[in-house]
Amino acid sequence: MNREDALQKIKELQHELEEHNYNYYVLAKPTISDFEFDMRLKELEKMEKEFGVNDPNSPTHRVGSDLSSDFEQVVHKYGMLSLSNAYSEEEIREFDTRVKKIIGIECDYVCELKFDGSSISLSYENGELVRAVTRGDGEKGDDVTTNVRTIRSIPLKLRGNDYPESFEIRGEILMPFEVFNALNAELEEAGEPLLANPRNTAAGTLKMKNSSVVATRKLDAYLYYLLGENLPADGHYENLQKAREWGFKISDHMALCKNLEEVFAFIRKWDTERFKLPVATDGVVIKVNSKNLQDNLGFTAKSPRWAIAYKFKAESVSTVLKSVSYQVGRTGAVTPVANLEPIPIAGTIVKRATLHNADIIKNLDLHIGDTVYVEKGGEIIPKITGVDATQRHPMFEAVRFIANCPECGTPLVRNEGEAAHYCPNEDGCPPQIKGKMEHFVSRKAMDIDGIGEETIELLYSQKLVKNIADLYELSKEQLMNLDRMAEKSAQRILDGLDASRKVPFERVLFALGIRFVGETVAKTLVNKLHTIENIQNQSREQLTEIDEIGGRIAESVVDWFSKPEHLVLIEKLKKQGLQFAINDEQLAGRTEKLAGLNIVISGTFEKHSRDELKKMIEMNGGKNVGSISKNTSYLLAGNNIGPSKLEKVTKLGIPTISEDDFLKLLEN
Ligand code: IVH
Repeated sequence: MNREDALQKIKELQHELEEHNYNYYVLAKPTISDFEFDMRLKELEKMEKEFGVNDPNSPTHRVGSDLSSDFEQVVHKYGMLSLSNAYSEEEIREFDTRVKKIIGIECDYVCELKFDGSSISLSYENGELVRAVTRGDGEKGDDVTTNVRTIRSIPLKLRGNDYPESFEIRGEILMPFEVFNALNAELEEAGEPLLANPRNTAAGTLKMKNSSVVATRKLDAYLYYLLGENLPADGHYENLQKAREWGFKISDHMALCKNLEEVFAFIRKWDTERFKLPVATDGVVIKVNSKNLQDNLGFTAKSPRWAIAYKFKAESVSTVLKSVSYQVGRTGAVTPVANLEPIPIAGTIVKRATLHNADIIKNLDLHIGDTVYVEKGGEIIPKITGVDATQRHPMFEAVRFIANCPECGTPLVRNEGEAAHYCPNEDGCPPQIKGKMEHFVSRKAMDIDGIGEETIELLYSQKLVKNIADLYELSKEQLMNLDRMAEKSAQRILDGLDASRKVPFERVLFALGIRFVGETVAKTLVNKLHTIENIQNQSREQLTEIDEIGGRIAESVVDWFSKPEHLVLIEKLKKQGLQFAINDEQLAGRTEKLAGLNIVISGTFEKHSRDELKKMIEMNGGKNVGSISKNTSYLLAGNNIGPSKLEKVTKLGIPTISEDDFLKLLEN
């Protein structure tokens, strides 16, 4: 056979084998025997070898390789966020109300099963899988492409030809119950410890260094989220149907719902039906169908505003409450923890359960020695949901919430309207001091390389630091005197601290760990008020005038700045050169030209992306709103605007402006 013919034949065999793969693993409708399949695969293998073909997306690569790989970290093009949770129909109604309030119109929802596995982001270019990345910390994950290529239901080359040139698709890698149980049966036979649950096992498998072992683990994958520039449709539902045509395994169990009643019907059905599925699910994800509306709704720092996860109620078992201990967190909140007679739930041994706060203890009327019901669902820490009162001995003692901090002895306080007890000794209570430092150095805050929980523990116990400002006064000698700290690590810490002097103000503000000032609130405060002095001088009332700053946040900010020791801390950090004002770059171009204007963006644009336009509106003091209402000032109109939108603006008499008009408006 000449080379050209051979290459042609290789291509044909690859294609044929992928078709069989698809029939078997995606459609579950095989059309040839396993034996025949293996014969052809061997033939392909032989030919690829003979003609020196090394195509990573050939079916021959699905068996993996035993070359060990360390995973490269890859930054996600679109962050991988999580979803906010709902546990009742009531919370879904609240979600619906929030959505409608922003978009101002009725919308369709898509209901999907929430698969309980390990999330993955797949990138395709020109119809071929180019990369598979784990969620990681949401911003960057591990490149596990070689392992993912072994998962038969993931297409290496797409079917048809109407897929976008480049896109991402996200989904869940799962280990089917059947595979998991067989694996555990083997382990049991060998007297080895058992695996906890399919989710952890799938995640662990995905991170194995030897992809040929991964290939034997029979992982499966369901995809549920298509991302990219040129998606086929505005509807998420339609896009997934298309993705199914391209060869992806898209669950058949999803529904396009016109209203909440249809959403609830889907949830009620799957609450019990899910036990018949081959893989683990732990809820239903409800998503706004239209991508356009999704864009309008946008994201909070943690999750999209256009989706919510309803969690199924978890399995419940009973065990005995042995004692209650108390943990003090970074903010001083005291969390009671139940110590239980160990009991297996959903595959893991549970020894402890959170009790959240004093009210929960009171409502449960807990007594030491009680037989309690414990539930565990997904990632959630187990919790006690009830007491079997018939099992209570009259001598059992009621659990009484502690009055003093278990760490520093300070009397606990409970603010009005709050469920939690706090230790008010913010700057003198060890777990609070250490927790604040951990938060300060963490990646989303000051991102100081080389300092972790362990180093902070050491630094604190050696009395080298007692607040975050002290970190900046550490010397190399002091660091090198710490246990297991070599010169290189010490230098890394010093370099990290030095680099943190350039961290923008909004992250410094977040890093201070003021209660209720998360990433988003910090950003809002900095964008509005620009300097620490301005923030410090605001009254509660002034603060609440700012969009998205409520009374609780305002109070916490005012309270924080009212403490002299905090002002001293800021002075020290200022002296160290940390950023306490918005920088010139952020400030440049910031105007009030669009102050008071509510602008709706619609359509596609030529010069700027929608995100850029949105940013420009915000940079100039305007507000980008999602839907047209009588309060809309302008419709910033691009090409291909839907007729219903145009009708609405005409009806309400809202002026439309083009991209060029908008840009001119800003120039003036
Ligand atoms: S959509 C922006 N759909 O649940 C987030 N997620 O708690 C888009 N998950 O990280 C995710 N089934 O790993 C979506 N049908 C589904 C899902 C699903 C499971 C996972 C996913 C996500 C987590 C959120």
